[in-house]
Amino acid sequence: MPESLIRAAVLERPGTEPRIEELTLDEPRAGEVRVRMAASGVCHSDLHVRDGEWHRPGPIVMGHEGAGYVESVGPGVDVAATGLEVGRLVALSWIVPCGRCRSCLAGRVWECPVSPSYTHLMPDGTSRVRRPGGEDVLAYCAIGTMASSQVVPAAAAIPMPDGTPPEVAALIGCCVATGVGAVTKTLPVEPGSSVAVIGLGGVGLSAVMGASLARASGVVAVDRVEAKLALAREVGATDTVLAGGDPVETVAAIRDATDGGPDVCVEAIGLPSTVELAVSCLPTGGAALLVGMTPAGQRASFEVFPFVDGARRIVGSNYGSAVPSVDFPRYAELYLDGRLPVDRLVTSRIALDGLEDAFDRMRRAEGVRSVIEF
Ligand SMILES: NC(=O)c1ccc[n+]([C@@H]2O[C@H](COP(=O)([O-])OP(=O)(O)OC[C@H]3O[C@@H](n4cnc5c(N)ncnc54)[C@H](O)[C@@H]3O)[C@@H](O)[C@H]2O)c1
Ligand SMILES: [Zn+2]
Ligand SMILES: [Zn+2]
Repeated sequence: MPESLIRAAVLERPGTEPRIEELTLDEPRAGEVRVRMAASGVCHSDLHVRDGEWHRPGPIVMGHEGAGYVESVGPGVDVAATGLEVGRLVALSWIVPCGRCRSCLAGRVWECPVSPSYTHLMPDGTSRVRRPGGEDVLAYCAIGTMASSQVVPAAAAIPMPDGTPPEVAALIGCCVATGVGAVTKTLPVEPGSSVAVIGLGGVGLSAVMGASLARASGVVAVDRVEAKLALAREVGATDTVLAGGDPVETVAAIRDATDGGPDVCVEAIGLPSTVELAVSCLPTGGAALLVGMTPAGQRASFEVFPFVDGARRIVGSNYGSAVPSVDFPRYAELYLDGRLPVDRLVTSRIALDGLEDAFDRMRRAEGVRSVIEF
């Protein structure tokens, strides 16, 4: 089997430092494509894995927010039907729909329980990446985008419209689909309603953009870092709240800015304390839209009576309810039309060996997205 050498960020096991390794990559098999990576964003989900907050197997090629160019297609991939011709820019989806389960058949591919995304292997249960000694290496969510090239299931590779910058395509593959989709697909914001977004990383700022696109009357952006508030205003926030140490004050400030509480309060951090904050600022009939993901095993609590009595809701949003083949090109077109300023999220461009520094910046909430360029 022909193979080539790649460079990739490999995590031996969660909670350890990723290393840049030279690995061998096989040619794509049936139903797969090989992609020369152009850009991979660093998402907080990568940091959860890096820091051992989620349990994932290893060794594994990290990364799930990437885009690149089709290098070769495996047997059985219908190039005319899929648009996956060699040289095409594709954004990669970290949910690889199996295409056969009840969720996939119903069009809710983000709920697919048997996606290769959960095994970190190709749909046939094998890996295309190996260490020089022959040891198999997994690929995070079956796409492992922090690699100079990668073999992925064809269903994960979504052709992008001409003119889409690779880094924009990469971000559409996670934070944009997640944040924009949460407020336009999972829980579509009604024009004229009020939205608060707590946590202004790539995901939260995308939710701000989505709420603004959906013509929310007010979009209140909340973060504990001042610099994030200014950026949020530039991408559509109408008000901002600097979250200090006291949650009671933060809730009061959010209520003040939304005439009694937001119709939808998005949590885009993944901390029990901010999940509780999102629930406690809701007015009667309001909904907390949970997008941030906590470390494994964590719980949040809230007072039940006023929640039920006030007909409030809590909704979880996975991947912004994305149907990647439909939504990714649509988000790219919105970017190209100047209606979704995705490029504003890119605050550093780095090489693969800058990954640990990017994780440090993310821990300090400095900047928004670091994008690895290949
Ligand atoms: N639901 C999904 O499908 C999905 C997809 C992608 C990412 N995520 C999750 O979304 C979350 C956000 O990801 P990201 O990449 O945007 O993260 P990020 O680290 O870039 O942004 C987090 C933001 O939260 C702010 N913050 C942290 N603690 C705070 C506090 N106590 N009060 C106010 N602000 C605070 C930080 O200053 C930062 O601006 C992560 O948990 C990630 O795993 C979920
Ligand atoms: Zn992500
Ligand atoms: Zn499925």
